[in-house]
Amino acid sequence: MEPKRKTILALRKMKAEGEKISVLTAYDYPLARIMDEAGIDVILVGDSVGTVFSGHDTTLPVTMEEMIYHTRAVVRGSRRALVVADLPFLSYQVDLRDARLNAGRLIKEGGAQAVKLEGGENQAETIRAITAMDIPVMGHIGLTPQSVHRMGGYLVQGRQEAQARQLLADAQAVEAAGAFALVLEGIPRYLARDITNAVSIPTIGIGAGVYCDGQVLVIHDILGLCEKYSPKFVKKYADVSGVIRGGVEAYVREVKDALFPAAEHSFD
Ligand code: KIV
Repeated sequence: MEPKRKTILALRKMKAEGEKISVLTAYDYPLARIMDEAGIDVILVGDSVGTVFSGHDTTLPVTMEEMIYHTRAVVRGSRRALVVADLPFLSYQVDLRDARLNAGRLIKEGGAQAVKLEGGENQAETIRAITAMDIPVMGHIGLTPQSVHRMGGYLVQGRQEAQARQLLADAQAVEAAGAFALVLEGIPRYLARDITNAVSIPTIGIGAGVYCDGQVLVIHDILGLCEKYSPKFVKKYADVSGVIRGGVEAYVREVKDALFPAAEHSFD
């Protein structure tokens, strides 16, 4: 029998039982397959695809078509993990009709089981509209990359008291609007702890310290695949760039020296 995917109910149970939730991003079939087999709970098809995969400076250029394309590849590569797909910039901010339609496309055309969008109180109505269609929504507050120009850069949020109070209100608004989980990005760890204690939905931290109910990181960062960025909160678990560079260098050398292809790689 096909293994069953994790559900949003499983995540709620993990929070209740104190089991931490593991989340990583993926954008393609092979990496989704490996991380699914390795036991990841949730795969996020993040709009970080725009920076670490496509090479843009921000996530702002990412389109719905790109998100659907990458979501389909990740869904094909995974069998056990819950797949959450990001709503990219401009796909949900303009009006509720767009938001509902684009969330629905990520589910219907992409095959995701849930969607994620950035924003707190200002997006509560949107979260309510999408969850009213029975599409599970993951919220995302704090350092929200789609707001890079308002924030004036990728800066830690919530260090001043008024900002911290607003983030707590944002978290409560996101929960009240029906979100099943909430990403806390780039905020001080004690604020993340207070938010985690104040809401009943699981919090998933990235640069938000250890008190969150789970953690998410970008796969290219933990594997050392994207050397352009190395945020303080990332732990590098492997040097895949080094492995790829070594393999390519060896191939180039062997082609130049006529060592490849050998007889066993050739047809008679
Ligand atoms: O786009 C993304 O990958 C994200 C996570 C880093 C939370 O939103």
